[in-house]
Amino acid sequence: MLPPFAIAGLVATLVLLDHTAAYRSPFIGGEPRPPRADAIVELESWYLAKAEEEVRLAELLANLDTPTMVDLGRQIVHGRGLCFNCHRVGAEGHGTQGPDLDGVGARAGERIAGMSDVDYFTQSLFAPHAFVVEGFPNAMTPVDEAPISLSELDALMVIAYLQSLGGTTTVGPETELAR
Ligand code: HEC
Repeated sequence: MLPPFAIAGLVATLVLLDHTAAYRSPFIGGEPRPPRADAIVELESWYLAKAEEEVRLAELLANLDTPTMVDLGRQIVHGRGLCFNCHRVGAEGHGTQGPDLDGVGARAGERIAGMSDVDYFTQSLFAPHAFVVEGFPNAMTPVDEAPISLSELDALMVIAYLQSLGGTTTVGPETELAR
């Protein structure tokens, strides 16, 4: 039998250890918990979800087809393409400086005599000053320049999405843009 002062000393040591952030006493109970455990778990699941999304995107890109391009193009127009700074698509988006892109797939082939919808879109994106839609300022930034900075494939997917807005989607991963 330990003398009472030794027992008291042991208990005090365990309580003290129990209160240090990095170590939780197995005698007194509870799993060892790192500091900010909840925040770490939350961040972990965020990174996992992001990694899963990246794998999903990589799979989509490996098997790229027209419907997938429309879907990815939509994400670009609604997000990092910054199009909604100036455009809307019907009730989606809030930009007003440029035309509402709703129905643009139907009118693109009619804008300039002899120019196909794909060629018109290519010009609208890469050389927006070549033709300025009546009633709007000559204010669009070419999409391959900062801050938009889209790649050729990004632009192809954007065009697939724009075609889907009232037109027929014809572009695929092999389509060459006439630039
Ligand atoms: C800084 C504002 C701005 C941004 C950002 C912008 N646009 Fe524009 N866009 C305009 C303006 C203004 C016009 C009309 C004048 C013109 O034809 O250049 C226009 C015209 C267009 C047209 C022709 C529409 C028609 O009815 O013929 C298309 C297509 C288009 N933009 C697509 C896009 C896409 C896709 C993005 C994003 C990748 C984008 N724009 C980003 C301002 C912008």
